[in-house]
Amino acid sequence: MSETDGPGPDAVQTLRWVGDIDGHLKLIDQTLLPRECREVACRDVETVWEAIRSLRVRGAPAIGIAAAYGVCLGMQDGSEESPERFFARLHQVREFLAGSRPTAVNLFTALNRMQGRAAELRAVRGPPEIRQALWEEARAIHEEDRAMCRAIGRQGAHLLGDGMGVLTHCNAGGLATSEYGTALALIYAAHEQGTRLHVFVDETRPLLQGARLTAWELAQHHIPSTLICDSMAAQVMREGRIQAVVTGADRIAANGDTANKIGTYGLAVLAHAHGIPFYVAAPSTTFDLELEHGDQIPIEQRGAAEVTEVLGQAVAPDGIEVYNPAFDVTPSRYIRAMITERGVLFPVNESRIRAVVG
Ligand code: MRU
Repeated sequence: MSETDGPGPDAVQTLRWVGDIDGHLKLIDQTLLPRECREVACRDVETVWEAIRSLRVRGAPAIGIAAAYGVCLGMQDGSEESPERFFARLHQVREFLAGSRPTAVNLFTALNRMQGRAAELRAVRGPPEIRQALWEEARAIHEEDRAMCRAIGRQGAHLLGDGMGVLTHCNAGGLATSEYGTALALIYAAHEQGTRLHVFVDETRPLLQGARLTAWELAQHHIPSTLICDSMAAQVMREGRIQAVVTGADRIAANGDTANKIGTYGLAVLAHAHGIPFYVAAPSTTFDLELEHGDQIPIEQRGAAEVTEVLGQAVAPDGIEVYNPAFDVTPSRYIRAMITERGVLFPVNESRIRAVVG
C-alpha cells in the first residue's frame, strides 16, 4: 500500500511502523474518513505531534502508541550523542509530545513507560543500545494493546445478549486502538459468537467520530447499525430500542469517574433514567489511579471552528462565542460495569478498581 493508495477493508491498520529502527510510522489519516482511507507517513516527531493534535490519529490507546513511536522518531539521530545530550533530548521529546493533547492518559502512560525504560538502562548501556530498547518498548506497547483489545472483547461479550440494541458514542473501535477497539470489541466479539445485535451510532458532534468512523467500521464488519444525531438518543431509548450503552474512555479516576468524548455523560444520565445499563470498556492503561475523582481530570478545550463549522462549511454567524470542551466526565454512579482486559469491574468502586487494575 502506498501513501496514497487506500487499503482494502480487512487490511486497515490504524498505525504501523515501516522498516527497522531507522524506519518511520504510518497511520491512517482519520480526518479523511470515510471519504478516503489514506495513510500519512510520519518521519519526525513534529509530524506525530501534529497528527495527534489534529486528530489524524485519535482515540486514547492509539494516541499512546503514536506517542511511543514519536519518541523513537525524535531519538533517531541520537545514537552518536553523549549520554547527557541523549537524555536531555529524550526529555525534550517527551515534553513536546506530552503537550499534544491533555485528556487521554494513555499518552502519558506510554511516554512515562518509554522514559522509564531509558532511565533503567542509563547506568549500564550507551545511547545506541538505549535507542534500540526504546524502539522495542514502542513495539511492545503496540502489541500489548492488540492483546488487551481482544481480551476486553472476550471479557465483555456476554453482557450483550441476542437481539439487543446497543448504543455507542464517538469511536472506540479499531481506529481508536491498535485494532479491534474497546467498546466495539464487545460488539465484535459478541457478533463473532453469533449474537445478533443492532448498533445505534451517535454521530458525535462536533467532529463526527461516530458518523465518520464508527459507522464506517461497523459497515466493514457487516454489523447492522443505524446512525442517529446525538439529540435523538433519549427518544430512541424511550421507544425501547436500546438495551445497553457501551462507550470507551480517555481517563478513569480511582473512584471510577470516567472522562470520555463530550456527550457521554448525558448518555449515561439518560441510560440511568431509562433503566438501561451503561458500560465503559477500557484497557488498564486508561486508568489514572493518582487521581481520586473525575474533577481532577484535565479536559481539553478545542477551537471554535469545530463548532461553528461542519466539514468546513460555516453553520453559525461570524464572531459568535463558542465553548468547546472535547470531553466530559461521567460520575461512576451511572456506570453499571467496566470491562477491562483483566476482568469486569462490578460494582464500579475504588476498592474493586484498585484490586483489578492497581
Ligand atoms: O477526541 P477523540 O476522537 O480522540 O476522542 C476519543 C474518545 O473519546 C474515545 O471514546 C476514547 O478515546 C476511547 S478509544 C478506545
